[in-house]
Amino acid sequence: MASQLAVAVLAAGKGTRMKSALPKVLHPLGGRSLLERVLDSLDDVNPTYRLIIVGYGAEQVRQALAHVPNLTFVEQTQQLGTGHAVQQVMPHLSDFDGDFLVLNGDVPLLRPATLSKLLTTHRQHGNAVTVLTAQFVDPTGYGRVFCNEDNIVTEIIEHRDCTEAQRQNRRINAGVYCFNWAALAKILPHLKADNDQQEYYLTDVVKDLAPAMAVDVDDPQEIQGINNRKQLAEAYSILQDRIKDYWMAAGVTLVDPDSTTIDTTVVLETDVIIEPQTHLRGKTVIGTGSRIGPGTLIEDSQIAAHVTVLYSVVTDSKVGEGTRIGPYAHLRGQAVVGDRCRIGNFVEIKKSTLGNRVNAAHLSYLGDATLGDRVNIGAGTITANYDGYQKHPTVIGDRTKTGANSVLVAPVTLGADVTVGAGSVVTKDVPDDHLVVARAKQSAVSGWRPKSVRGADAQQANPQETDAE
Ligand code: UD1
Ligand code: CA
Repeated sequence: MASQLAVAVLAAGKGTRMKSALPKVLHPLGGRSLLERVLDSLDDVNPTYRLIIVGYGAEQVRQALAHVPNLTFVEQTQQLGTGHAVQQVMPHLSDFDGDFLVLNGDVPLLRPATLSKLLTTHRQHGNAVTVLTAQFVDPTGYGRVFCNEDNIVTEIIEHRDCTEAQRQNRRINAGVYCFNWAALAKILPHLKADNDQQEYYLTDVVKDLAPAMAVDVDDPQEIQGINNRKQLAEAYSILQDRIKDYWMAAGVTLVDPDSTTIDTTVVLETDVIIEPQTHLRGKTVIGTGSRIGPGTLIEDSQIAAHVTVLYSVVTDSKVGEGTRIGPYAHLRGQAVVGDRCRIGNFVEIKKSTLGNRVNAAHLSYLGDATLGDRVNIGAGTITANYDGYQKHPTVIGDRTKTGANSVLVAPVTLGADVTVGAGSVVTKDVPDDHLVVARAKQSAVSGWRPKSVRGADAQQANPQETDAE
């Protein structure tokens, strides 16, 4: 039987250099928090135990991860260093026998394959510890890893504790280690805090463990740590490059990758075209052949095949096949638009369901409405869904047409094949097959002049009013 694996993620620090009220590990990076991303990197190694060491903002961190199963939170009430943090897991692993992986909560770009390779190397060589390392052009700030022949680690020294000569070593500690738990547990209680920060450093254990081996990561970008907002932005850009490379290789056209952002959680089918200045977020799916953008934001929405969305914002919504959205449309709050619809300029749709082949081409608001198929919403039609206290529904049957500037005062139901006269304010239900006109009748007054110009040539002092409709 393969030996068991326990993982500890160090996430107790405040992240002082972020200058934030939010604990560092909860900062979002492309739709997921740093800590969620660190957990994602465990996808290929199958740990039996996942321990999260929390301290600063412990309750907030727990709540933010409440949706993730099989996590054990271990509290480190005082942050006395990375070694001290790992000491806190000892009571939880007193019976554990196997390998022990340590990850920093602020290293979010590790690939699952990197961790499985680290674990495999560790097991193949029967190491006491295997340290993930990289050669950095600028190693400033990182712990330096000193090795003799065959990548055997002799010592790890923090940047601030290094001599000028030691700082020339560009091999850095990624903060990712695989230990033999039994070997680590023996020496962990004996750490000393004799260093510049007076902290208990986990890195101090390597000189007492043998064999201790260093393994270079293939892609040094993976171990970029996040200590400040600049590094957060750099990590975002690394992540974006990865995501975009992935989708382009999968058959998606990104017309201008530099002006496009795509969250990790987004799914794109082949032959999707993403035009410039477009941002795809959350659990968004875009169907084959759809053209999105330019100038579009889509979040948590399902867009079917062959849809076009131009200069628009779509959130929490669904759009059916062949529908055209925009320019300047806004779909939100569970708008569900059917197939082959046309949603045009300055149309807002909220929590409404539209059948197939519906047109709402100009200047409308549809809220809490249910529309059948082939409905035509005239320019400027508004559902008055809110009475100042509550929202009310509007129902519109198949093939019904509303005239320009109609107001449908909810709750109201228009049957099928209804025509609403332009400018109507509809307050009562209308049965199938009716014309409804609900507006003041037009009147025309012959020979009328404004008072100020009424003179001798005015034909009538009291002009005759005539109905003219
Ligand atoms: C650490 C390593 C350094 C390595 C670098 C890689 C040590 C002593 N140094 O330095 O060799 O190059 O990571 O990114 O380990 N934490 C706790 N409790 C504590 C202290 C820290 O949970 O008491 C957590 C932090 O929240 C963070 C992680 O441990 O997620 C690393 O701590 P940090 O202070 O950022 O260590 P570095 O100085 O970056
Ligand atoms: Ca760090």
